[in-house]
Amino acid sequence: MKAVAWHGNHDVRVDTVPDPTIEQPTDAIIRVTSTGLCGSDLHLYEVLGPFIDEGDILGHEPMGIVEEVGAEVTNIKPGDRVVIPFNISCGNCYMCGKGLQTQCETTQTREMDTGAALLGYTKLYGQVPGGQAEYLRVPQAHYGPIKVPEGPPDDRFVYMSDVLPTAWQAVKYADVPEGETVLVLGLGPIGEMCTRVAIQQGAGRVIGVDLVPERLERAAAHGVEVLDLEEHDDLPAVVREMTGGRGPISVIDAVGMEAHGAPIGKMAHTIAGFLPDAVARKVIETGGIDRLSALHMAIELVQRGGTVSLSGVYGGAASPMPLIQMFDKQINLRMGQANVKRWIPEILPLLTGDDDPLGVDAFATHRLPLEEAPHAYEIFQKKQDGAFKVLFQP
Ligand SMILES: NC(=O)c1ccc[n+]([C@@H]2O[C@H](COP(=O)([O-])OP(=O)(O)OC[C@H]3O[C@@H](n4cnc5c(N)ncnc54)[C@H](O)[C@@H]3O)[C@@H](O)[C@H]2O)c1
Ligand SMILES: [Zn+2]
Ligand SMILES: [Zn+2]
Repeated sequence: MKAVAWHGNHDVRVDTVPDPTIEQPTDAIIRVTSTGLCGSDLHLYEVLGPFIDEGDILGHEPMGIVEEVGAEVTNIKPGDRVVIPFNISCGNCYMCGKGLQTQCETTQTREMDTGAALLGYTKLYGQVPGGQAEYLRVPQAHYGPIKVPEGPPDDRFVYMSDVLPTAWQAVKYADVPEGETVLVLGLGPIGEMCTRVAIQQGAGRVIGVDLVPERLERAAAHGVEVLDLEEHDDLPAVVREMTGGRGPISVIDAVGMEAHGAPIGKMAHTIAGFLPDAVARKVIETGGIDRLSALHMAIELVQRGGTVSLSGVYGGAASPMPLIQMFDKQINLRMGQANVKRWIPEILPLLTGDDDPLGVDAFATHRLPLEEAPHAYEIFQKKQDGAFKVLFQP
């Protein structure tokens, strides 16, 4: 089959590789019909190279048709239309029982001391072959796959793999009281979906910050008050002015570790890129590789006693945090990868009607064949050609 494989920093290729097969009785094989490209893939494209091997198959936002199931998979059958969550969880351990599928004790990557395995996401998360491919082996298929009805196009459902539950959790964790203000940093697919979910869930005002003109326009078009990072030297002062001097009660950071405007993290990334993998891994694990400008901005912006909800991914252990300000302002901080299956019962009903309240049908900007993956990664990373959300259609 054809699959998108990692070959080095800024080097992904479409390789021909063996078709996947059932390895465990809890596996299924799906034929992928749509599969997303995500800001998290860009971390692999740019920063996390030392944790990935040449040839590893990328991607974690797939949906498709079940081809084959293992002996213990009874919830789905060949021919079913399914969306596959990006985190792989068992559904019956202590953590899954608590709705913390990201911490699944069956699939945890214990040698790395990390949480649940993820599709297509490096040795940090189990080195499981990913979903930007014609076929995918789905581990823990007795629990993970989300069955969806026939009829609407894939766009309607595919974002349940990641974008929707990630935005849903970010908004829940942001704890926005009805009618109050939330500010979202970063208006990529995740941040923009956070603004849509926040409006749908009853936030009074939603402010969004980015620096890419089309992204600001997109968000403004559905009722977000947008601020261009590059137009304001003192963003916190502008935001305080807009919010009665106090700042928004909730701030969501949907930027992550490659934030614009943080030179030190960028230097560490560049240096890590020149080191042998084993050394670079240590630099990344223990050094300050994160460009923390967005997170620091979130802490500065949020109202005293308010909540910062972090969905952008960060990776370093020695990344300095402004504890004095966090403590003084009594900030609540919640974060983590999305516990996908936990939120699906709340999200699915918003996708099955005709009204499309979250605007998923027109969310993607590019629908491309898998062969165009190298180009797609490049335009998404450089934010060229209006690339906002790319769906591959293998
Ligand atoms: N928690 C989860 O489960 C989860 C799931 C998916 C993605 N993510 C993470 O969410 C983040 C966003 O993902 P995405 O797909 O939207 O990617 P993206 O890279 O397209 O979006 C990031 C946006 O932030 C903007 N930005 C950069 N620096 C900024 C700054 N200093 N202030 C304000 N905006 C800034 C960029 O212009 C871009 O529009 C990534 O870090 C990704 O890894 C987390
Ligand atoms: Zn993703
Ligand atoms: Zn589990």
